[in-house]
Amino acid sequence: MSTMKAVQFETGSGPENMSVGDVARPTLRTGEILIRVHSSAINRADTLQRKGLYPPPKGDSDILGLEAAGEIVEVQESCGRNWNIGDRVMALLAGGGNAEYVAVDACHVMPIPKSITMLEAGGLPEVWLTAYQLLYLVGKLQANDSVLIHAGASGVGTAAIQLVKEAGATAYITAGSSPKIKFAKSLGAAEGFNYKEGDWAEKLMEVTKGNGVNMVLDCIGGSYWQQNAAVLSMDGRWVLYGLMGGATVEGPFLRQLLSKRISVLSSALRARDKQYKARLIESFEKHILPKFDSMRFKPVVESSFSLKDIAKAHTLMESNGNIGKILIRVYSRDGIEEL
Ligand SMILES: NC(=O)c1ccc[n+]([C@@H]2O[C@H](COP(=O)([O-])OP(=O)(O)OC[C@H]3O[C@@H](n4cnc5c(N)ncnc54)[C@H](OP(=O)(O)O)[C@@H]3O)[C@@H](O)[C@H]2O)c1
Repeated sequence: MSTMKAVQFETGSGPENMSVGDVARPTLRTGEILIRVHSSAINRADTLQRKGLYPPPKGDSDILGLEAAGEIVEVQESCGRNWNIGDRVMALLAGGGNAEYVAVDACHVMPIPKSITMLEAGGLPEVWLTAYQLLYLVGKLQANDSVLIHAGASGVGTAAIQLVKEAGATAYITAGSSPKIKFAKSLGAAEGFNYKEGDWAEKLMEVTKGNGVNMVLDCIGGSYWQQNAAVLSMDGRWVLYGLMGGATVEGPFLRQLLSKRISVLSSALRARDKQYKARLIESFEKHILPKFDSMRFKPVVESSFSLKDIAKAHTLMESNGNIGKILIRVYSRDGIEEL
């Protein structure tokens, strides 16, 4: 049996118990290709999985890592794309990216835009596909929309701001520090509100002259429900995709929804079926990916860590210290990272 290095962790414990160890190298199933991983990234889902709160979908890898970039080393099937050994690609994964090799459905792979480095590409698929899916497929974004994006400096938030701006709509954000707000505005947010400095909903209503917004991209959930309901306009869309502020709602939630005819929409990408992900990726590749090379979009990177420093990466994310993506370096042509 061939082996490879991969991140290991003790379910339910902190980053300090993470390590890199030997596991079986993946073998290809029908429709898959094998990627030698050069870079990957971490996402909130990885920290939740480590804590035992977000197990991988049945049948998928239990290794952490929802995205990766690298070179193709084996092709079982090409998804009609003519993938070849040596091609530089990035992929959306249900797991397995924090390792030397990953097997992925050939339809979940994209070419890396010329303007993006292999390292940056390792952190592009998950947050960009999430933001694209939430805004367009779920939220039905239109040019005249005004969109409130919570956690505006997060991986998903920094992608969403750029997508909203490019669509001709207006983005407002919340975040927990002035540097995060400043950065979000540099990406195109019209205004940002520090939730640690008073009631952000009141300030947003002032800035929008009482109009509020007609879409909220909400990864906070419970702790923000009253303010979300207060700032959404009639027929507003409330797109729920995370619960960082809790899963419980207490109070007249339904009355608030009904009085403004608010639609609550929700989505979780990881557990979507393979066909859905393939269609999403096809659409993203056609409509969004070319705009990286024309400099309309850019990946936002906080920092990168070697695979062996995975615990530091998790600690940084859990301290809310990042603006954009925390990348993981696995292998480079110039030399193997010390695993
Ligand atoms: N449904 C899906 O398909 C899907 C896919 C990908 C990600 N997600 C979700 O999207 C969210 C963002 O993920 P990410 O990887 O982009 O995150 P990230 O880069 O780690 O950023 C998350 C940020 O959220 C803010 N935050 C954390 N707890 C908060 C709270 N209780 N109240 C207000 N703000 C809080 C922090 O910034 P501040 O300093 O501003 O507080 C933190 O840095 C997560 O909830 C994740 O689970 C969902």
